[in-house]
Amino acid sequence: MSESVLVPVPEAIAKAALVNEAQYLDLYKSSIADPDAFWAEHGKRIDWIKPFTAVKDVSFDPHDVHIRWFHDGTLNVSVNCLDRHLETRGDQTAILWEGDDPKDDARITYRDLYERVCKLANAFRELGVKKGDRVCIYLPMIPEAAVAMLACARIGAVHSIVFGGFSPDSLANRIQDSECTLVITSDEGLRGGRKVALKKNVDTALEHCPSVKTVVVVKRTGGAIDTVEGRDVWYHEITANQPAECQPEEMNAEDPLFILYTSGSTGKPKGVLHTSGGYLVYVSMTHEYVFDYKDGEVYWCTADVGWVTGHSYIVYGPLANGAISLMFEGVPNYPDVSRFWQVVEKHKVNIFYTAPTAIRALMREGEEPVKKHDRSSLRILGSVGEPINPEAWTWYHRVVGEDRCPIVDTWWQTETGGILITPLPGATKLKPGSATLPFFGVEPVLVDAEGNELSGATEGNLCIARSWPGQMRTVYGDHERFVQTYFSTYKGYYFTGDGCRRDEDGYYWITGRVDDVINVSGHRMGTAEIESALVAHPKVAEAAVVGFPHDIKGQGIYAYVTLVAGEKETDALRKELVAWVRKDIGPIASPDIIQWAPGLPKTRSGKIMRRILRKIAENEFGALGDTSTLADPTVVEDLIANRPQA
Ligand code: PRX
Repeated sequence: MSESVLVPVPEAIAKAALVNEAQYLDLYKSSIADPDAFWAEHGKRIDWIKPFTAVKDVSFDPHDVHIRWFHDGTLNVSVNCLDRHLETRGDQTAILWEGDDPKDDARITYRDLYERVCKLANAFRELGVKKGDRVCIYLPMIPEAAVAMLACARIGAVHSIVFGGFSPDSLANRIQDSECTLVITSDEGLRGGRKVALKKNVDTALEHCPSVKTVVVVKRTGGAIDTVEGRDVWYHEITANQPAECQPEEMNAEDPLFILYTSGSTGKPKGVLHTSGGYLVYVSMTHEYVFDYKDGEVYWCTADVGWVTGHSYIVYGPLANGAISLMFEGVPNYPDVSRFWQVVEKHKVNIFYTAPTAIRALMREGEEPVKKHDRSSLRILGSVGEPINPEAWTWYHRVVGEDRCPIVDTWWQTETGGILITPLPGATKLKPGSATLPFFGVEPVLVDAEGNELSGATEGNLCIARSWPGQMRTVYGDHERFVQTYFSTYKGYYFTGDGCRRDEDGYYWITGRVDDVINVSGHRMGTAEIESALVAHPKVAEAAVVGFPHDIKGQGIYAYVTLVAGEKETDALRKELVAWVRKDIGPIASPDIIQWAPGLPKTRSGKIMRRILRKIAENEFGALGDTSTLADPTVVEDLIANRPQA
């Protein structure tokens, strides 16, 4: 139904927009017809130390996958985000920080930020951090998180941010995989009035991380912490006497900027590697065009810097563009459910970018908490992280945006670095629930299971036919895994792992993952990771995890668990297993439903039939499909009969 709904571009937006509909079509065409000329031109939007002459060198051939952009150019990313703005907007706010407590806020100008970054960069150098070294950032949403990222970029260190909601084990795995030598954290984090023991988690994680020589601690709450002599230093002490200038490292466009771990369908999380030049060109360009960003506007992305959205659209994209980027420490429902709109009113936010899960949760609270705050400053709304259902879209548009703000539903991934499929506010008619059309230079392709390209209105697996500058370059330390995961399923294409429909107007509708990755409240998780956490419990013999539709989270986590013979299926054990997974991976991985499974549906060769488990979890017993290959059909009947209700 919603495929036929077309929401026009508001006239006021179209008139002042960076690109209108005709310009979008023209630019898109030229970006596809002559990509080298297009990107040679747009590559100039950032400052280069040594300008590039080569635009790209790319192969998606599984025997020789390599991706290089602007590869004979040199630059420094922090210089692009800071130094180049000093003359024109040194006194303008760069980071507008809003604390967890509504009484806490701060404005950090470009000059302030520059000085803070230089001081920390100098301190890092003094602590022995060199170009190419990996630095782990495990911080809450405080300005020091952005300072630490940019300080790494300044001296050529590669940052690896780990979301503060991850457990000590998850933190340790990530630190070990990239052999970080320094970790920066804070005494505690503060979210929704509750303290998070970040330093304590670091202490636990570091029992298994011999590569780490130094821990830098930011004082956030002043809570008591343990200190390891010779390893731990205070941020405020090591930066206090540093010069407020720091010679930036000259980096090749293809030198690494950061590693960010993300879940796949198998194995442990992968270290997605992004490099410097192409990434910065792509995120700054998409930030400007997708949000139609105008100088002086207050732009707020509610993501955490622990996810790629925070990297690209709180820090690098906006700061490269000299924007005012609002950074929020808290949560949408603290002190109450009107917090987002209270912040919008307080800081006169013009552009607001959030996740569907937040919209769905707030929609449940009714219109009053939204309407009691003035939102007349809002101009553009955005959505990211998971499909937005048309009901949530319509509520966001009507109630939050008073029918006057376009919603940019931006589809992309950790791997893509920046937004690939999206409306442009002044150019694209909207359809509730559709990410609409490709960004410049992006060529989406839908393929069937055999890899045949499908044309016209159709549904298939979403691939991208050619490279764009923000694309990930490799899996850190495991290029073969990069090739296997993304380039071997459908030859010649980058495979996204998403299913997608294209309608009569050429609009794209992302239908969700087609692999064993689930998306819980916009957080991406591999079912295999949760399964291996469960089977590590001494009472668990076997586990299978699938996603199921969840009203607020988009998808919930449904775990089928077979106990070791003789163990009792009790509620107490259920709770214990949930706590076990929380402790092993982090709260975001807590199963919503655990079903005891005396047996799992398997083929005669012993393969678990996940398709059937998904259908049972979805409560769709009538649609189990072909069950003739099951070794023991009674297993399925038993699971259906005993399906717990959420
Ligand atoms: O399934 C898609 C979904 O999120 C996945 C990527 O997750 P992650 O790497 O954590 O990055 C999230 C933030 C960019 C995708 O494979 N996804 C992301 N944005 C959308 C989406 N699904 C539908 N619509 C979107 N706008």
